[in-house]
Amino acid sequence: MSVDIDAAIPNNVDLAGDRRLQRALESWQPRFVQWWNELGPVAFQDNDVYLRTAIAVGQEGWANFGYVKMPEYRWGIFLAEPEPDRTVAFGDHLGDPAWQEVPGEYRAELRRLIVVQGDTEPASVEQQRALCLTAPSLYDLRNLFQVNVEEGRHLWAMVYLLHRYFGRDGRDEADELLERHSGDHDSPRILGAFNEATPDWLSFFFFTYFTDRDGKFQLASLRESAFDPLSRTCDFMLKEEAHHMFVGASGIARVVQRTVELMKEHDTADVNQFGGVDVPTLQRYLNFHYTVSLDLFGAETSTNAANYFAAGLKGRFQEEKRGDDHRLRDATREVPSVTDGRVATRESPALAALNETLREDYTADCRKGLDRWNRLLADVGMELVLPHAGFNRAVGEFADHHVTPDGKVIGEREWQSHRATWLPTDADREHVESLMAGVRRPGKMAGWIAPPATGIHAKPVDFEYVRTN
Ligand SMILES: [Fe+2]
Ligand SMILES: [Fe+2]
Repeated sequence: MSVDIDAAIPNNVDLAGDRRLQRALESWQPRFVQWWNELGPVAFQDNDVYLRTAIAVGQEGWANFGYVKMPEYRWGIFLAEPEPDRTVAFGDHLGDPAWQEVPGEYRAELRRLIVVQGDTEPASVEQQRALCLTAPSLYDLRNLFQVNVEEGRHLWAMVYLLHRYFGRDGRDEADELLERHSGDHDSPRILGAFNEATPDWLSFFFFTYFTDRDGKFQLASLRESAFDPLSRTCDFMLKEEAHHMFVGASGIARVVQRTVELMKEHDTADVNQFGGVDVPTLQRYLNFHYTVSLDLFGAETSTNAANYFAAGLKGRFQEEKRGDDHRLRDATREVPSVTDGRVATRESPALAALNETLREDYTADCRKGLDRWNRLLADVGMELVLPHAGFNRAVGEFADHHVTPDGKVIGEREWQSHRATWLPTDADREHVESLMAGVRRPGKMAGWIAPPATGIHAKPVDFEYVRTN
């Protein structure tokens, strides 16, 4: 498919062939840039940043590196190449040709799915906007900005679908995506985790590890959609999302590595006094970010999830690799429940339990990074663990119960007396905050984090990833 990179909006969807759509998007564009200037990064908007820009979806081409000022970043619309004769892989329409237009009967549901996904993209840019002041290195600063501009492009991807396929309601929804703001009292973002602050870089790394990974799983299940343009959009977004996962996984690994170095150097686990982050603090941050991300998957059983699947709108993670009938009409599975003051399970129709199925796949994926961090920690005989799925939950079966990180249901008093050992405290946040100081000399790192093993795009670690002069 041909790519129009010189167009005002770079794209591979033949915008030039649809003047009305092109004009509508060109009138949304200045509002997007205004939003970026007002609610994007609080500084460095005039600096050259060494960024990756997608200019095509093929093997080469989609990752072009060069210096660019962020407000001039070329946010484009790219869909993965169409799969010839693609058919619906699950649900009641299994085997039908994939849809190139939105069926009237599913219009409202599809629009909702796209709006909820689209809302998270600018939300995270807003959450992260002040972090540029305290980046531990220019390398990290550049990675933050790469994530930010790509979340901006993901917003573009969803806005394209809204404009192209949903008429007037779609255009209204696209406008509202710029009107809701993270943490705004009157007009907050749709999902809870996207209204939490990302106040420091430790939070940022855990956010990209756990919360961007929720994004990966949502996109992966929307990639299965019978609505082919949505599927192809998500397919391409997932390529970019992989870098966001890398930022989180490698960021935490570098913090852990530094913690281990300080423990050995000073022969103590209490490394906060030496400018590091001790393992109990890391565990509390992990507990918080993992559990707010679990909430994003929704309740264990959900009629919406069942309907989305049956209708072919949203599949399971790697739907086609699964060995079952892909309809699940008679299938059942166990889901967690709290019964008689204990964590137990109950049987549920598999269709209703799809949120839980996706959450389990997510948890398995989360464990991989932990294994890597724990190989570093094994050196000092410590480890990080994922808390029980019932711990600190605000959505679903566990929302009305207190559950310990190892899965025991407890009362309010016991919860309150242990809370400070399980979740970040004010003192933790103050300590982490005290470590945050922007480091802007090429190759220099803040003292609480180890340098990365390699730079970006085969550049050295001390490359000037952001020109600060
Ligand atoms: Fe995204
Ligand atoms: Fe992301």
